[in-house]
Amino acid sequence: MLWTIFLFLNGLLILVLLYFTRRRQKNEPPLDKGLIPWLGHALEFGKDAAKFLARMKEKHGDIFTVRVAGHYVTVLLDPNSFDAIINDTVFLDFTRARNQLVKRIFSLQLPSIKPTAERKWMERHFHGLHLSKLNSSMNIHLQNLLLSDQTGFGPSEWRQDGLFSLCYSLLFRAGYLTLFERKDNTATVYKEFRKFDNLLTKLARCSLKQGERETANSSRERLWELLSPSWPSGGSEPASWQHSYHHFLQEEGVDAEMQKRASLLQLWTTQCNAGPAAFWLLGFLLTHPEAMEAVKSEIRCLTLQDTSLQHPPINPLEAHSTPVFDSVLSETLRLTAAVMINREVVQDKILRMANGKEYHLRQGDRVCLFPFLSPQMDPEIHQDPQIFKYDRFLNEDITVKDKFYKKEKRLKYYNLPWGAGKNICVGKEFAVTAIKQFVFLLLTHLDMEMCDPEAKLPPVNPSRYGFGMLQPDGDLQVRYRLKMPQHRMLLI
Ligand code: HEM
Repeated sequence: MLWTIFLFLNGLLILVLLYFTRRRQKNEPPLDKGLIPWLGHALEFGKDAAKFLARMKEKHGDIFTVRVAGHYVTVLLDPNSFDAIINDTVFLDFTRARNQLVKRIFSLQLPSIKPTAERKWMERHFHGLHLSKLNSSMNIHLQNLLLSDQTGFGPSEWRQDGLFSLCYSLLFRAGYLTLFERKDNTATVYKEFRKFDNLLTKLARCSLKQGERETANSSRERLWELLSPSWPSGGSEPASWQHSYHHFLQEEGVDAEMQKRASLLQLWTTQCNAGPAAFWLLGFLLTHPEAMEAVKSEIRCLTLQDTSLQHPPINPLEAHSTPVFDSVLSETLRLTAAVMINREVVQDKILRMANGKEYHLRQGDRVCLFPFLSPQMDPEIHQDPQIFKYDRFLNEDITVKDKFYKKEKRLKYYNLPWGAGKNICVGKEFAVTAIKQFVFLLLTHLDMEMCDPEAKLPPVNPSRYGFGMLQPDGDLQVRYRLKMPQHRMLLI
């Protein structure tokens, strides 16, 4: 009798599991749930998303669904089919998942703000006259900080530092002074921000250990205080980008506490990518002498052209095109920008792939594009994708190369560091100009070399896949000194 009950209960359990466990239906992408109930592949995904997704691509092809911490995520890795996801605002939504993440990381909720209103505000403030003002302010701050950081050191005195620290610190402080209220706390904000940024991926994945949680919470609170407005409440004319942003939030009905918290979100959004990008770019130049020579030669030509003019432009980079530098930047971003484009399926959807196949996407699932794997590291698109080739985005006549193919079909998306569609980076032009200005300044004002001429670039920190620019695990030690003023332009 006992045996009969035991077998009956077991049978029932199996039936319940079969009923409630998800199985692949006809027309759905291959399903890979992983072995651990509910968690599925979460651990492998969080540890090294690029490695995990490359393994799944190998096993299932360009589209598959994986279970990650209770969510079913359909990963699409065919760039020719990206438009079906990026342009769909009816069946897919990108705000809900983003808002959850913002709440988890920044303890911030802005329910009264329509994402389109905020986007419009951002677009306005990173274009036209606003953009020109920001660019020139950034240039001045970069120059001032570079020179003031050298005070106390003789002209021929070498200093040593990690290249990542050097780039991140300089670009962050200049960016902060350009966009945020100018308080005398730049170095403190930078230090606190790095502490917070180092724990950010764990905050996002809810994988902080006890001590880390305390550090993240106290760092976040300290940053809220450091960033809190110093202007009088009321209708004073906004004097900074941050002030205008608060003005906008106020008009949208956001309370003072959430305004303060929103400042940290914006600090992270505007400052976390340019420093790491400049690090990789300079790191690739220092470890690839032929690329360094090509960039220096391009800059030398610009400055020589300008010295012959009666009124040379204040900023030669804005006055001339720089196809070699642009190719180096595109190649750097191809190798080190790793955004994930996520959407939530709000209504069942039929996804039509470029090859004609159709897949059913279920309501409530998520869709994820990971352009780092394809197109950026796809060997069918970019030959030897792991290798840095400074002229990969150059035609033979030194014009910008923008024709890339997969299976003989020309690609619209062959490099996607800035995201795409409605939430493409609004700060792209500002970021490109800032990185160019920064590299130009360093090459023209500093003698710089690696401490160990045989050194290699550090590997990437694999936990940062999916969070924009990758960061290194370690640093590259460099030594540098100020050039003599008369040597700045001619001897680079
Ligand atoms: C190399 C540097 C940068 C890269 C690779 C980059 C990349 C990106 C990407 C991929 C997104 C979309 C994120 C998503 O899908 O959720 C984004 C959004 C954004 N970026 Fe950048 N970014 C960079 C620098 C900057 C800078 C310097 C600024 C401004 C000063 C900036 C401002 C923004 C803003 C405001 C958004 C949010 C847009 C929205 O929500 O609609 N970015 N960025």
